[in-house]
Amino acid sequence: MSNACALTGSGAYAPPNVVDNEQLCAAFNAWVRAENRRAENAKGTGAEPLPESSPAWVEKVSGIVRRHYFESSGILDPEFMCPRIPDRPDDQLSVQAEFALEAARPALAAAGLEGEDIDLTIVGASSLQRPYPALAIEVQAALGARGFGLDISVGCSSGPFAIQIATQAIQAGTARRALVCVPEIPSAYSNFRARDSHFILGDASVAVVIEKIDDAKPGAFEILGTTSFSRFSSAVRNNGGFLTRCDPEGRDAADKLFYQDGPRVFHDIVRLVPKLVREQLHKAGIDPKQVARVWLHQANARMNEAIAKRIGGPDVSAPIVLEEYGNTASAGSLLAFHLHKDDLRTGDVGVLAAFGAGYTMGAQVLRRL
Ligand SMILES: CC(C)(COP(=O)(O)OP(=O)(O)OC[C@H]1O[C@@H](n2cnc3c(N)ncnc32)[C@H](O)[C@@H]1OP(=O)(O)O)[C@@H](O)C(=O)NCCC(=O)NCCS
Repeated sequence: MSNACALTGSGAYAPPNVVDNEQLCAAFNAWVRAENRRAENAKGTGAEPLPESSPAWVEKVSGIVRRHYFESSGILDPEFMCPRIPDRPDDQLSVQAEFALEAARPALAAAGLEGEDIDLTIVGASSLQRPYPALAIEVQAALGARGFGLDISVGCSSGPFAIQIATQAIQAGTARRALVCVPEIPSAYSNFRARDSHFILGDASVAVVIEKIDDAKPGAFEILGTTSFSRFSSAVRNNGGFLTRCDPEGRDAADKLFYQDGPRVFHDIVRLVPKLVREQLHKAGIDPKQVARVWLHQANARMNEAIAKRIGGPDVSAPIVLEEYGNTASAGSLLAFHLHKDDLRTGDVGVLAAFGAGYTMGAQVLRRL
């Protein structure tokens, strides 16, 4: 009996509220003009007027054309600039658990399983709605899954990190079948008043099922190797957390939302990720030339092109889903996988690789059964 595992099903969901660059920049620019008027009226501040944002620039530098939001009316309201998501009572399914289920149910169906077949549920996301009870336990209960559930959060690598934990739990015998949910609602921590990042993030939910290879059917993806890596950096950061209320002066400061040094991240990640993925391929005994596809974290189209070339050469296929969905945090690489896997043939090798805040990088080498 083999100890190998496989991804046996995947599901994805993007909310129907689509906002394109023109709409998003129009809201941002309306806020900029109002701010500049306010500054002009409060004469003597000496502040430079705030510059506007441009849809053409956004598309050119990032490859993003539109994105899907959990809620968009609040984001497009220059007086609010945040999704409007009302609190729910404790006896109702919580927002992020419900979002997880939108992808979990189709993932289970794709694997031909019911909730009760699962005995490990992991929710991995760049931000979690609350500290406790863990969202995974709520998802576990809603699906009727058995065993145990846990949440993990390691920036945009949360999906592949969770897949690694699930795979190793199955290999160690502490679980038989695992469900990994990645419900990302980064619009809720996006700073829609920050010119250099207001356009980046979008919302999406993805889920995958992991089983022993002996339980997998043809068409599933054997996990040939898995790796997780972290190295501390503040280049992508969000200081919002349980201490936020303890310093009233800084409570609403911009550092309590997503912020980054974009050019720095670009520079570092383009070098780091191909090196780590090539090491992983070497360990799995795969020649980089054999890689048919890489499903990368979706942050920047130019960055992904450079990374893909450094992993598998000029001809490797690296699907981009940024144009439609933007950067969906740790859902991005799995969304690319879910949407662009069916045309691969038996024996084809692909690499799933996510990277982001931390820095973190998580990758799986996959082979189609
Ligand atoms: C964020 C990112 C798209 C920015 O692209 P960039 O080419 O590096 O752009 P820069 O920040 O250097 O800005 C370049 C110019 O555009 C301008 N600019 C910034 N935001 C703008 C906007 N919204 N509209 C128009 N112009 C803008 C800047 O003012 C600057 O102008 P200048 O050259 O006259 O000074 C890019 O750096 C990136 O994607 N990095 C990787 C991020 C990443 O992977 N993060 C992981 C998160 S999970």
